[in-house]
Amino acid sequence: MKIGMFDSGVGGLTVLKSVREAYDKVDIVYLGDTARVPYGIKSKETIITYAKESANFLINQNVDMILIACNSVSANAMEALQETFDIPIVGVIEAGVEAALKSSKTKHVGIIGTTATINSNKYQERLEAFNIKTYGKACPLFVPIVEEKLINTDISKKTVEFYLKEFKDLKDIDTIILGCTHYPLLEKDIREFLPHINLVSSSDAIISYIKDIVKNEGDATTKLYFTDISENTSKLVEYIMGQKYDLKYINVESLSINC
Ligand code: DGL
Repeated sequence: MKIGMFDSGVGGLTVLKSVREAYDKVDIVYLGDTARVPYGIKSKETIITYAKESANFLINQNVDMILIACNSVSANAMEALQETFDIPIVGVIEAGVEAALKSSKTKHVGIIGTTATINSNKYQERLEAFNIKTYGKACPLFVPIVEEKLINTDISKKTVEFYLKEFKDLKDIDTIILGCTHYPLLEKDIREFLPHINLVSSSDAIISYIKDIVKNEGDATTKLYFTDISENTSKLVEYIMGQKYDLKYINVESLSINC
């Protein structure tokens, strides 16, 4: 089986890593739109346009299903993609919601993510349907901190405190969803600041969520495409995946021309 995955950049590799560990035989094609990252500060319309181009590229690679490895896209463009393309398309929101429902005893859940994800209200709506009280907080500086590899530094600690200090007073919250694929990389910083809160991420939760769709068979190939490959892209891929990959370039204009 060939799984197509895409993200605005490298963050979705946290999802890829989990999928690869859980399903060791599948073929995976990943597209990171590094030329146009970040998506999390863009409008819904733009996110839909970019998402359709990425999905179209993956379908041309003959994938059997698409896993949207980006919360900002899952929150803003999943329905549009499902209406446009006729292969299974799965986002990360439902998996994160499932994980939070399992984790929370108090039924008060925080969600942190990009501005596009938090403002979409997708996590909040899904959780509130289960009578969960939600508190969403956009943390736009977390993505550049991860991309600059400033994890576990004074800067990351100060930024975590800046965005998450109100969670110290929201005593009923026992679970926070890391609603951005970059955020698992900041888990240690967040855990140190909020040690009493359980952190759940869709990168882990997605594995059981897709188990009925994925057949663990294939040649175990992993192809990584990016719309821009800078020195930082290669370093971040190695940092997140723990090994070097031969990165493939795809021109961003060819994505829209062929869509
Ligand atoms: N990977 C994106 C997400 O999960 C965050 C990066 C971006 O803003 O594009 O929302």
